Order: sequence, then structure tokens, then C-alpha cells
Amino acid sequence: MVRVLFLVPLGLYAQHSDTSLVNPFQSPDDRARGAVFFRSQCASCHGADGKGSGQGPNLTLGTFRHANSDEGLFKVITKGVPGTTMPGFSMNGREIWQIAGFIRGLNLSRMAEQAKGNAAAGEALFQSQNCLACHWLKGAGASRGLSLASIGSRLSVGEMRTALLEPSADVAPEYWHWQGKLKTGETIKGQRLNEDTFSIQVLDSTGRLRGIDKSDLAEQSLERKSSMPSFQGRLTEAQIGDLVSYLTTLK
Ligand code: HEC
Ligand code: HEC
Repeated sequence: MVRVLFLVPLGLYAQHSDTSLVNPFQSPDDRARGAVFFRSQCASCHGADGKGSGQGPNLTLGTFRHANSDEGLFKVITKGVPGTTMPGFSMNGREIWQIAGFIRGLNLSRMAEQAKGNAAAGEALFQSQNCLACHWLKGAGASRGLSLASIGSRLSVGEMRTALLEPSADVAPEYWHWQGKLKTGETIKGQRLNEDTFSIQVLDSTGRLRGIDKSDLAEQSLERKSSMPSFQGRLTEAQIGDLVSYLTTLK
């Protein structure tokens, strides 16, 4: 896969926002409403059970061609797929999220079938591979890092594999890789958590929270890739399966 490196001065980007791209409407009630909308708006092409028809593809396979996140699903539903019969829908945001949650639910039952690894072995790997240097789970790890608490109800097996093997495939701007060089010569890399006029807060690659005065910086850049390392080649295929199995238990 060709990776586009994208270097920009930080100032072009607005303050890091804490707005999460995760579906905010995921209660059982929301999903039930989503199901109702789905049957009235989408079933004619995607089938009442979402498994597809002659008019539209199966949406229950656990991966999507045009989306690999909640935000991606939201975009597909609001914008449609240009050049195909998949229309964009202009319902309100809440309704779109509810439909997205319903579709996600269809995939989660599928997901349980697909995760075939050993979850206990995966949990041991989770500890030994130092995932908690950057992530937060069950009261441990990097408290400002991305929480994996309900990852099992947010990502399909395919998406988890992508997250582990190709972390930079679909990375949101707030996770772009920050790198700065201090006037002292020290280089710091990691995830930019916050920025104001005078300082920047970075979760560095060793899991340490660093407050940096901008006046101490000689240079800085932001790259369109994740600070998460790829586990491709570091772990065997079986180990990846074990880790994914463990992640699916986090709900
Ligand atoms: C007129 C038929 C039609 C209707 C109605 C329709 N879709 Fe689609 N949808 C399609 C087609 C065709 C595609 C495949 C586009 C392509 O070729 O990639 C698609 C693709 C999608 C995809 C992307 C699948 C992927 O693998 O990336 C999603 C998600 C989706 N539709 C959701 C919905 C939802 C939700 C609704 C109702 C709000 C809906 N669709 C209504 C025809 C339809
Ligand atoms: C050096 C820091 C770092 C380490 C170590 C790390 N991650 Fe990540 N991880 C991130 C960042 C930053 C993101 C968000 C950006 C992205 O999607 O890549 C992320 C994203 C993820 C996601 C996708 C989350 C979502 O909501 O889409 C999963 C799953 C994940 N990591 C699991 C793991 C596991 C399991 C390990 C250990 C085997 C691990 N990570 C190790 C930094 C790290």
C-alpha cells in the first residue's frame, strides 16, 4: 500500500479537538430506532436483514468497501457512493447515527463468529506488547491515550486487524503523528493531545505526557500517519488472531 506522507506546519490545523468520531447513539433503544429507519429507507436495496439484494450489497460481512469506522459509515449514508445508485440521505444526524449503529450491530453478531483466536493468550500479548503505553483500559495505562474499553462493540474483526497491521490506513487528524525538535536538540515524537498559544501537550512514544513550551521548539511537523506501530511481522498470524479475539471481548 502506498502511504502518502503529508507534512504540514501545525498552525494550519485548529486546536486539537476532543470531539470523538465515535457513534454517540448506540443504546439498544437507538439501535431499535435504527432498525425501523433501515427497514423503511434502505431495505428495498439492502434487504430487510441487511444481507443484500439485487439492488444493493450485503452490509453484514464485517467489513465495508467504503468505510472502516463509524465516521466512515456516517459519511457513506449522508453522501452516498458517487457514481452508483447508493443515494445520500438527508435525515438528521441522530437518525443517521442510529442507522449506522444498527448496521454495526448486524456486523457484531457476525464478528463473534469470525474471531477464532485464543482470547486468554491475546490478553497476555496485550500486556507483553505494551499496548498500555498508549492506551487506556480498565483503569490502567496511558490515561490520556485512546481508550479500548468498548472496542469490541465498535470495531469489526476486519477493522481490528487493520488497526493492528496497518494503523495508518485510516487515521483521524487528532491522531496524526507529531514530531518536534527542541532547541536543545532533543527530538520528541508522539500524539499531540492539546495545543494553546504557548504550549503543546504530547503523549510521547514511551507513554510519557510532555508539556512543551513553544518557545523551546526549533521545529515541528505533523504527519498523516498513526503513532501506533504496525504489528505486521512483529507478531505471527496466530498471535494477531489471539489479540483480536481478546479485543472482541472488550465491550
Ligand atoms: C436505491 C438503492 C439503495 C438504497 C435505497 C440504499 N442503498 Fe446503500 N448502497 C446501494 C448500492 C448499489 C451500494 C454499493 C455502491 C458500490 O457499488 O460501491 C450501496 C452501498 C452502501 C454502503 C457501503 C457498503 C460498503 O461495502 O462500503 C452502505 C454502508 C450503505 N449502502 C448503507 C445504506 C443505508 C444505511 C441506506 C438507507 C438509509 C441505504 N444504503 C440505502 C444501494 C442503495
Ligand atoms: C505508540 C503508541 C501505541 C501503541 C504502543 C499501541 N497503540 Fe493502538 N493506537 C494508538 C493510536 C495513536 C491510535 C489511534 C490512531 C489509529 O487509529 O492508529 C491507536 C489505535 C488503536 C486501535 C483502533 C482504535 C479505534 O477506535 O479505531 C486499536 C484496536 C488499537 N490501537 C489496539 C492496540 C493494541 C492491541 C496494541 C498493542 C498490541 C496497541 N494498540 C499499541 C497508539 C498506540
